[in-house]
Amino acid sequence: MKNFINISDIDKKDLRKIIDHAKLQKQKRSNLSKSAIDPDAYLTDKTLIMIFEKSSTRTKISFELAMKQLGGQIVMLNSKESHYGSREESVHDTAKVLSQYGDIVMMRANKHEHFLEFSKHLDVPIINGLTNLSHPCQIMSDIMTFEELRGPITNKKIAWLGDGNNVVYSLIEASVQFNFELAIACPQQLTPDKKILKWAKNKKAKIFITKNPLEAVNLADCVMTDKWISMGDKGNKNKKKKLLKSYQVNKKIMRSAKADAIFMHCLPASRGEEVTDEVIDGKQSAVWLEAINRIHAQKSIIEWCLK
Ligand code: CP
Ligand code: NVA
Repeated sequence: MKNFINISDIDKKDLRKIIDHAKLQKQKRSNLSKSAIDPDAYLTDKTLIMIFEKSSTRTKISFELAMKQLGGQIVMLNSKESHYGSREESVHDTAKVLSQYGDIVMMRANKHEHFLEFSKHLDVPIINGLTNLSHPCQIMSDIMTFEELRGPITNKKIAWLGDGNNVVYSLIEASVQFNFELAIACPQQLTPDKKILKWAKNKKAKIFITKNPLEAVNLADCVMTDKWISMGDKGNKNKKKKLLKSYQVNKKIMRSAKADAIFMHCLPASRGEEVTDEVIDGKQSAVWLEAINRIHAQKSIIEWCLK
């Protein structure tokens, strides 16, 4: 059974196949309407069950469209309206039941360890739709987006500015698997998880961490950021925002990267905090393409899991 939980779990060759297949399938449906089923759709007898413990706009809709374009069905489960995770039913029992109803599960979970626990009891594949420790589907669609705009990501330089959060954890894993340079600029207190950095170091990752945002974006092909406060962040929000103030992606930052550098953000964005309007709405911004590519990258991930 093939789960899609972390980018670091998957073989490099498979990750490349997932991206290339996504690009090809996207091209093939370029003349079709948004909701049209793919001409070669073959998942007509498959159901994706989606569980959300946290809010979502893109993940929810892009997975639904992905499954529909592949010919399959979806069932949405809001954890607050079900027995999942409550004292009324064990995670084991919910997993056993869902394995009988659906062919594949996608879950957005508060805690990565709960996600892993749930996945162990499932008899069908599971896809990680974000946990506190990773957001692999987002980074897969970001790699697809980067390559669509700038060609192969191998040996390119990506700069990450801001919080050392779940999205950058997946980006760190991707930098190893896809072999690109990653410069992370953040305050020392918000440096990404040591375990993930150690894993990357052992894999000879080209990762560089600095407190200086200008140093990180120098010669970068892409500048990425994310919200300073993630869902479920428990710390002092104002203190964190103060710490991150000088990591905002603005015109000056974009001017210090390569002239043709692109700007990426997984969205939702807090305009005026981690990014200015002129950058997110500017010519270098790839944010809308990132959102669209969630559909295509996830179709390819679903197919990979079910093959
Ligand atoms: N980028 C992303 O995962 O967005 P949602 O939280 O809206 O799903
Ligand atoms: N880091 C953000 C990503 C949202 C898509 C969060 O976890 O809230």
